[in-house]
Amino acid sequence: MKCLIIYFTGTNNTKFLVNKIKERLEQENLYFVETLNIDSTSIKIDLDNFDLIILSYPIYAFNPPVIFEKYIKNLKFKINQKVIIAKQSGEPLFLNNSSSYRLIKKIKKDKAKLINEYHFLLPYNIHFRYEDNFIKELFNYDKKLLDILIYELKNNYSFKIKYNPLLALNSFIFKIQRIGGVINSYFFRVDYSKCIMCQKCIKNCPMKNIIFDQKSKKIIFHSHCLMCMRCSFNCPTNAIKIGFLESWKVNGEYKLSEIDKNDELKGDYLLTHKTNFFKLFPKQINKINKLYDKYFNKN
Ligand SMILES: Cc1cc2nc3c(=O)[nH]c(=O)nc-3n(C[C@H](O)[C@H](O)[C@H](O)COP(=O)(O)O)c2cc1C
Ligand code: SF4
Ligand code: SF4
Repeated sequence: MKCLIIYFTGTNNTKFLVNKIKERLEQENLYFVETLNIDSTSIKIDLDNFDLIILSYPIYAFNPPVIFEKYIKNLKFKINQKVIIAKQSGEPLFLNNSSSYRLIKKIKKDKAKLINEYHFLLPYNIHFRYEDNFIKELFNYDKKLLDILIYELKNNYSFKIKYNPLLALNSFIFKIQRIGGVINSYFFRVDYSKCIMCQKCIKNCPMKNIIFDQKSKKIIFHSHCLMCMRCSFNCPTNAIKIGFLESWKVNGEYKLSEIDKNDELKGDYLLTHKTNFFKLFPKQINKINKLYDKYFNKN
């Protein structure tokens, strides 16, 4: 049996999740898994050869990234083909729940079979930097959610995702990220007192939105920015200013694999962090714990 995971990642969190899902499906001998990172291809892939398709993306302003949605819209699922949505983002705010509506509409239109949508939690790549112990706590949640995904897949579950028009309207309004990206990219700037001209930002932009202007010897940002934050997040000298969002910038890779393996981290961050933002998490964690117990701790 063959599975294809189609994904987009701005700053590698989704890639980390995709590798975890792939590893698990293969360990369980459920599927041989191929992955397709859509920013390295514009080729429309033929889905006919696959028994299961997994769609994985980071949530941007309560929506999928534009590049991802466009790519999926142009695909053709097989009738009754199994599909899973494995999205991920920085927090479990309920407004994120509607991010997949248009993808679900597409899956339905092609008469494919949606198994379920799973919302994994990974660190913010914008707003503020998550501490390692908090990431560890999110990993504990993600591991349980992945167990649930595998269980529901093995047992041939299929769920109807409830459509909430108010949430859908919210996602629609926040499609403004698309216009926001265009406007904000006019304000992206390089601080040349820090820039070492490594050209990493230019090579890695998924939209080819950054160029080096030979004449002025300056780095220029065009207006088709996706707001993926890859350039500013990965700049080795933190030289990229991201316009209106500068105070929300996060710079520097998260060492996700190291955090995952580090057993000294207790993953008990939420015990001592109870401000309004962190209050968002326990409800979602408890919900998943409850479902986990229902599936795995039946006695
Ligand atoms: C422009 C932008 C908008 C975002 N909007 C949301 C959001 O609405 N909800 C959320 O929980 N996280 C949001 N995030 C955080 C990302 O979803 C999160 O950090 C994710 O793990 C990044 O994944 P990646 O490394 O694969 O790009 C946003 C990030 C960016 C860059
Ligand atoms: S990644 Fe940073 S240091 Fe490298 S060229 Fe771009 S702005 Fe300059
Ligand atoms: S300019 Fe930067 S934030 Fe915009 S799409 Fe390119 S890498 Fe992403």
